[in-house]
Amino acid sequence: MDRQKTVWVTGASSGLGLHTAMALRDGGWRVIAGARSFDGGEKDGMFCLRLDVTDEESIREFCRRAEEIAPPDALVQCAGMLVLGSCEETSAEEFRRVMDTNYLGMVRMNREVLPRMRAQGGGKIVMFSSINGLMGIPFQSAYTASKHAIEGYAECLMLEAKPFGIQVMLVEPGDHRSGSDKYRPHAAAMSEKSPYAAEYASATAQIHHDETNGSDPDKLGRKLARTLDRKRIPFRKRIASPDQHLAVYIHRFLGARLNAWILRKYYTGKEQAK
Ligand SMILES: NC(=O)c1ccc[n+]([C@@H]2O[C@H](COP(=O)([O-])OP(=O)(O)OC[C@H]3O[C@@H](n4cnc5c(N)ncnc54)[C@H](OP(=O)(O)O)[C@@H]3O)[C@@H](O)[C@H]2O)c1
Repeated sequence: MDRQKTVWVTGASSGLGLHTAMALRDGGWRVIAGARSFDGGEKDGMFCLRLDVTDEESIREFCRRAEEIAPPDALVQCAGMLVLGSCEETSAEEFRRVMDTNYLGMVRMNREVLPRMRAQGGGKIVMFSSINGLMGIPFQSAYTASKHAIEGYAECLMLEAKPFGIQVMLVEPGDHRSGSDKYRPHAAAMSEKSPYAAEYASATAQIHHDETNGSDPDKLGRKLARTLDRKRIPFRKRIASPDQHLAVYIHRFLGARLNAWILRKYYTGKEQAK
């Protein structure tokens, strides 16, 4: 009989991280889940350990305790957040917080896990990007920048890790009805007096509508669990509704002007600015 495989999952206390962790558990994986709100112990058939991906000491402690349970055949990184706001009114500190969690959090985790995977002769590293890793959306600049950073970084990592039998996969979800508003604060400077207030209100209403009416997070979890079971995993896996797949193609193949017209119309209800 095959030995049970182990996956370490970050950001597994809610949203797509939780759904992915549960699907992997249901698929027979031993799941070691990490999040700041966990305090150790077993819950729902998963080992739930405290982890703050912005804190190197917390990461080292998580990895040490997780390894005592079982070393990682796979690492799935879902921890993330966003700050909604205009580019002008999102502070450098707010940009830093998003980059620190979404992008540097993955960099830190990989720096701990790569030596372990090299020593054991391979492994799979899965990083949650987003459709926003491929295209910008108004008032999500900090998040979009962090996901673009992940996309570029993952391409480099994939090339470097290959000789060690380590496979890398980017997951690019479209909107899923999984995220919690808790992880989507508004930039502190956004107010009704903002010069962007009217467009900000319609764009954030559209963003909220798209997420609450988004795809099924359980399905995403199950799809990923099936993919991770394969010997070879793809470098990119986009899991999105047909219209969001189309948006990515439009973004790639149409010119910037037409693309801006479509996106501004969709998010702000307005056509190209003067
Ligand atoms: N939902 C969507 O439609 C969608 C679309 C595209 C991509 N994504 C990506 O999918 C992932 C999950 O997003 P979601 O919206 O489904 O979930 P979410 O509800 O926003 O959950 C975020 C998760 O990240 C954890 N987290 C936040 N900061 C952390 C930190 N410093 N250290 C460790 N864990 C941290 C949270 O747990 P604690 O607070 O307990 O730490 C929580 O489990 C993210 O990477 C997101 O960018 C989501």
